Formats: sequence, structure tokens, C-alpha cells
Amino acid sequence: MKTIIYYFTGTGNSLAAAKTIGARLGDCQLVSIPSLAGSPAEIVPDADQVGIICPVYDLGLPSIVAAFAERLDIRSTGYCFVVLTMGGMGGSALHQMDSILQKHRGRQPDAAFTVRMPGNFVPLYDPPQGKKKEEILALAHERLVEIATIIDTGLMVRPGISPFTSLLKHFLYKGFIKNVQGMDKDFVADEKCTSCGTCSRVCPVQNIAMVNEKPSWLHHCELCLACMHLCPVAAIQMGSKTASRGRYKNPSLSLEDMKKQRGE
Ligand SMILES: Cc1cc2nc3c(=O)[nH]c(=O)nc-3n(C[C@H](O)[C@H](O)[C@H](O)COP(=O)(O)O)c2cc1C
Repeated sequence: MKTIIYYFTGTGNSLAAAKTIGARLGDCQLVSIPSLAGSPAEIVPDADQVGIICPVYDLGLPSIVAAFAERLDIRSTGYCFVVLTMGGMGGSALHQMDSILQKHRGRQPDAAFTVRMPGNFVPLYDPPQGKKKEEILALAHERLVEIATIIDTGLMVRPGISPFTSLLKHFLYKGFIKNVQGMDKDFVADEKCTSCGTCSRVCPVQNIAMVNEKPSWLHHCELCLACMHLCPVAAIQMGSKTASRGRYKNPSLSLEDMKKQRGE
């Protein structure tokens, strides 16, 4: 049985989740969502079953994933599953995926899961480090193995409903999705910047150009924060607090992975 997992990642959690699950499903191909962007064409998976794995952003789906889901034709696909990685709260994003697929294809995913992984939204908090980070990653790995077994068995799993999270999403996500592409106006490279260009090479949506040897953001940002987290000298800031906070990268993520995600 062939599986295709479509993924999007900024700091590697969702890619690690895709790899862990994919390795347990046998014949499995990972396809990056950014590599399919830029065309309105429908996507008809050449596979028996399909998965979508990505992070939760502001209790909803990343903009690029929501647009991808509208193009994904799962009408003749067998089993379909969704796995969302998140820092702590985001089940409402599973309902968003349900609504998109139901509206465009008349069908919902068969199984939907969230997995808690290290949170990476540095403008708001310090990402977990050291032992705390290791503990979260170990629990996430256990959960992903359990999810892979459920998928392998073909069980139906409906997302739970939290009225509080749904209400919060209603207010938070609207503003996020309306403004996200231009939120990169708040990124700056501070004096630590060595002009190495890593930020430009890791951006999954090619939103960073090097201008006069400094990063310049092009306003089609997904806010994945790959630039901020993967800068080797932590020179990229957003707001006044990020300079004193840590950075995060899933231990399994490499710069090569980010190039692959861009379809290079
Ligand atoms: C813009 C943005 C918004 C986020 N919003 C949420 C959220 O609403 N709830 C949550 O639990 N985590 C949130 N997070 C944390 C990520 O969902 C989490 O760290 C995820 O595992 C990152 O996946 P990645 O490493 O594949 O990019 C957010 C992160 C970013 C960058």
C-alpha cells in the first residue's frame, strides 16, 4: 500500500513527525507542500492513502497549508489522515481542515491527531531547552509511534471538540490569516548578522532576498520562523524580546531538509 505524506515545517517538528510515521507505514513518500505552491492546479495523489502533517499557527492552519488543502482532491483516495504538531493548544485547526476538505471535496479526513512538541513562537515565549525539551520530544515520539499504529490499522479518529479553543480561534486566526504575509515587516537582522545568507536559503517560501549582504523580507511570509531559529548567530529578531530568548530546531532537521522542502 502506497502512502503520500504532504508536510510543511519551519523548525522541523512536523517533518520529524512525518518521518517517524512514514517509516512505520512501509511504502511512503514525503512531499513538501511549499514545493507544490504557486499553481492553482488540483492535486490528485497517486497513492492508496494520504496524510497531511504541519504545525498549528494561531489555533489554525498555516496559510500555505489551508491553500494546499483546497487544491487536494481526496475523493478517490482511500484512508486520509491529518497530524498537527503544536506547542500546547490547537485542536481547532483539525476542524478547519475538516471544513476545507468537506467544502471542496465532500469528505473529511478519516483520522485526525494533534501532537505536543516544543513550541517555537519566540516572539511570545522562550522555547523549551535542555531537559524540558528532551522530555517533550520523548513523549512526542511515543505519541507518534502510537499514531502510526492507529493509521496502520485504518481506524477512524474524529477530532475532539473544545468550545473554548474554537471561540478563541474565531477571534485570533482571522487577524493572523489576514496579516500574516506582511508580518515580516517586523523582522530585523541585528549587528550580529554575518551576511552568511542562511536565512535566505532556509526560508521554505523563498521570502528572503539578500540585499547589500543583509536579509530583506519580501512580504509573502508564512511566519514559520525558520529564518529566526536557524540563523547560526541568532541575529534575527522580531520585537524587543527575542534577542534575550533561545532558539529551537528539531534535532532531526538539517539545512538539506529545508532545501528539499523548497523543491530544490
Ligand atoms: C506563527 C506561529 C503560531 C503558532 N501558534 C500556535 C498555537 O496557536 N498553538 C500551539 O500550540 N502552538 C503554536 N505554535 C507553535 C508551533 O505550532 C509548534 O512549535 C510546531 O510544532 C512547530 O512546527 P515546525 O517545527 O514543524 O515548524 C505557533 C508557532 C508559530 C511559528
